[in-house]
Amino acid sequence: MRVLVIGSGGREHALAWKIAQSPLLTKLFIAPGNGGTGSVAENLAVDVTDHAAVVALCRQHQIDFVVVGPDAQVVAGLGDDVRAAGFTCFCPSKAAGQLEGSKGFTKALCDEMDIPTAAYGRFDNEAAALAYLYTQGAPIVIKADGLAAGKGVTVAMSVEEAEEAIIDCFSGAFGASGAEVVIEEFMEGEEVSLFVLCDGTNILPLTTAQDHKRAFDGDTGPNTGGMGAYSPAPVMTREIYDETIERVIWPTVRGLAARGTPYQGVLYAGLMLTEDGPKLVEYNARFGDPETQVMMMRMESDLLPLLHAVATSTLAGHDVAWKDQFALTVILATQGYPGSYGKGSEIKGVDAVNAEHTHFFHAGTRRDGDRLLAWGGRVLNVTALGDTVLEAQQRAYAGVDAIDWPEGFCRRDIGWREIARSR
Ligand code: AMP
Ligand code: GLY
Repeated sequence: MRVLVIGSGGREHALAWKIAQSPLLTKLFIAPGNGGTGSVAENLAVDVTDHAAVVALCRQHQIDFVVVGPDAQVVAGLGDDVRAAGFTCFCPSKAAGQLEGSKGFTKALCDEMDIPTAAYGRFDNEAAALAYLYTQGAPIVIKADGLAAGKGVTVAMSVEEAEEAIIDCFSGAFGASGAEVVIEEFMEGEEVSLFVLCDGTNILPLTTAQDHKRAFDGDTGPNTGGMGAYSPAPVMTREIYDETIERVIWPTVRGLAARGTPYQGVLYAGLMLTEDGPKLVEYNARFGDPETQVMMMRMESDLLPLLHAVATSTLAGHDVAWKDQFALTVILATQGYPGSYGKGSEIKGVDAVNAEHTHFFHAGTRRDGDRLLAWGGRVLNVTALGDTVLEAQQRAYAGVDAIDWPEGFCRRDIGWREIARSR
C-alpha cells in the first residue's frame, strides 16, 4: 500500500513512524512533513490548505491511502475532497468534523443524546452573553465557538475575568471562531483523554492519556497545544471507562449516524472525572498532539490496517494490543511559545541519542544540510517507554538533557499527577 500522511507535527511524525513499520506498506509519503519525518517517509512539499494540490499529489504518487492528521484539515473538509477524487482517506467528513469545529454543535448533540457534560449557554452577541454570565457567576468557562489552536478557552475564576474574555471574543480576538461564544458551567475534577476508532457504526477503543496543557511547571502559565503527555492514564479505572463508552461514546456514534453524518475517524474525548461521574469537556475529531506520540510508542498492533478499516467501514472484528508499559513525552518548545518566538536557532545532540526505549519525534524542525533548526513553537517530543510513569519520565528527561539547544525550554514535571499518586 502506498500511503500519504498529511501534516507536519509531532503527531504526524509518530503516525508515520508507526505506519512505516507495517508489512502492508510499500511506500510512505508525508506532506509537508518536518525535519524528522524524512527518516521514515518521503517529505513532499505542498500547501495542505490547497485541496486540489493535495489531490494532484495523490495522483502523481499513485497513493492508495491518505491519513489526515491536523484538526484544521479535518474541519476544512480535506477528507471529503480527497474521497470525491476517488481516494481512500482516514479523515472524518466535514459534517462529522463539526464535533471539533464547533463547540455549539457538540453541546447540541449532547443535549439530543443525553450525554453528560457541563450546563451551558450559546450566544452570538456580547449583551446576551454578559447577561447570562451575571445570572451564573464565577467560576465559569468562556469558549470561542470555533477552532482557536487550543487558546479560545478561558477558565474564569472571577466575573471580571469572564467579562474580559467575552468582550475579547466579540471584539475579534479569535476572528470568526469567536463570533459565537459558549459559556459553560465550571466542572471540578481531573481531566483524562480517551481515544476511540470509529468506522461509522463500529467502535474500537484505543487507550487513555493525560496531557499537560499549561506552559509551565505546576500547571501554571498560558494554555498551549500541550507540553507533554503520558499513556495510559490509570486515573481512568475500568468502571469509569465502561461508563464513558456507554454514556458518552456510543450515544455520540449513534447520534451522528442517525443524523446521516456518521463519524469515521478517531474520536478524541476530553473528559472531566467529576464526583458525578465522567463528563465530556470537548471532542476532537483527530488524534491528539502530543498524545499520539505516547500512544504509538505503546501500540503493539499494526496501525495501518486499523486506520484503513476505519476509512472503509470494516472495523468489526479488529482488535488492538498495547505494550504493558507506560510512555511519556516531553515537549521542547522555543522560548516565547505559546506567544511569539524566533525561528532558525540550531538544535544539537538529537541524532546522537540512540536508546531502544527513547524516541525523538520532531514537530517544528527543519533540516539545513547537516544542521537541525527550530522552526516552530513546539519543536521536539522526547518520548520514552518505562515500566512505571516515573521510569518513563526519567528516560525522557535523560533524552532532553542530551540536547543542546539554549533557545528551547520544557516543563520538568510531565507526569506529576500519576507519579504523585503512585507514591
Ligand atoms: P477545551 O478546548 O474545551 O478542551 O478547553 C480547554 C481546557 O479548558 C480543558 O482542557 C479544561 O482544562 C478547561 N475546561 C474547558 N471546559 C471546562 C469546564 N466546563 N470546566 C472546567 N474546565 C474546563
Ligand atoms: N493535546 C491536545 C490536543 O491535541 O488537542
